[in-house]
Amino acid sequence: MLLVLGSINADLVLEVETLPGPGETVLCPGWRLAHGGKGANQAAAAAKLGARVRFFGRIGSDPWGPLLRRGLEEAGVEVDGLASSPRPTGTAVIAVDRAGENLILVASGANLDVSLDQLGGAELGPGTTLLCQNEIPLPVTLAALERARAAGARTILNLAPAAALPAGALDPVDLLLVNEHEAAALLGAACEPEAAAAALAGPQRTCVLTLGRAGALAIGPDGAWRVPALTVRPVDTTGAGDTFAGALAAFLDLGLSLPEALARASVAAGLACERLGAREGQPDRAAVEARLAELGPPVPITAARGS
Ligand code: RIB
Repeated sequence: MLLVLGSINADLVLEVETLPGPGETVLCPGWRLAHGGKGANQAAAAAKLGARVRFFGRIGSDPWGPLLRRGLEEAGVEVDGLASSPRPTGTAVIAVDRAGENLILVASGANLDVSLDQLGGAELGPGTTLLCQNEIPLPVTLAALERARAAGARTILNLAPAAALPAGALDPVDLLLVNEHEAAALLGAACEPEAAAAALAGPQRTCVLTLGRAGALAIGPDGAWRVPALTVRPVDTTGAGDTFAGALAAFLDLGLSLPEALARASVAAGLACERLGAREGQPDRAAVEARLAELGPPVPITAARGS
């Protein structure tokens, strides 16, 4: 079983010609409401791919809360761990330009009240996976990862958005998932992808580094692989990283090997870019398997270890 502890947001999506720069005003005809939040997006992606998923988060007592709860339920996620907060439901304003690139602002709201005790009754233990991101208070995330590691569960941290971490924070993490920007924030400097992933991996920790159109790579105690990205015409890249994270966690939890899960996560993330919104393009397992051959098998990396 996959347990996801994290954020859930109402996304206000605006389609614009170009993304605004500092001090700039950009007009567009309207906006639409979509289901979002990195935690909830990842939970939904994993459930759509066939994993059994429980989500732990918080919503406000405004009309958006129940709407977002229903969205998760419809994706097949168990929501008994979704609690309420006196703060407003988390809200993101997302501008998407003609090339599918985005700019995101998040008002955290109820996500700030997610607490460790919510995980209290969860079945953490061998055979379960805990997946976290960085849109709820960091101390709660780190304590949850420690609790999961102590219970023998697999632990995955998608450190998005980027953050510097206290010393030792990654010790209970089995798999760290970051993009290049997040890796640079952690390492204090941008560096070549294989060197970055090798630096963030550890004796018991795999680092998976996503590289956008260049695919992804994984380096860790089980080996090192690179996978390409699926060739797609992107409509909206919002949430592609969340689909990657949810898919990777789902396939590992379902018992696939790291390279098998990596390739499928890359396909799922590519497919997610073909529709507007963080969740609308999330594929089911059949859609992923149907496009898998386009990627070819993951390529082992031989030169990166220990750099
Ligand atoms: O990763 C995309 C997500 O980031 C959006 O759904 C938004 O809610 C923010 O959390």
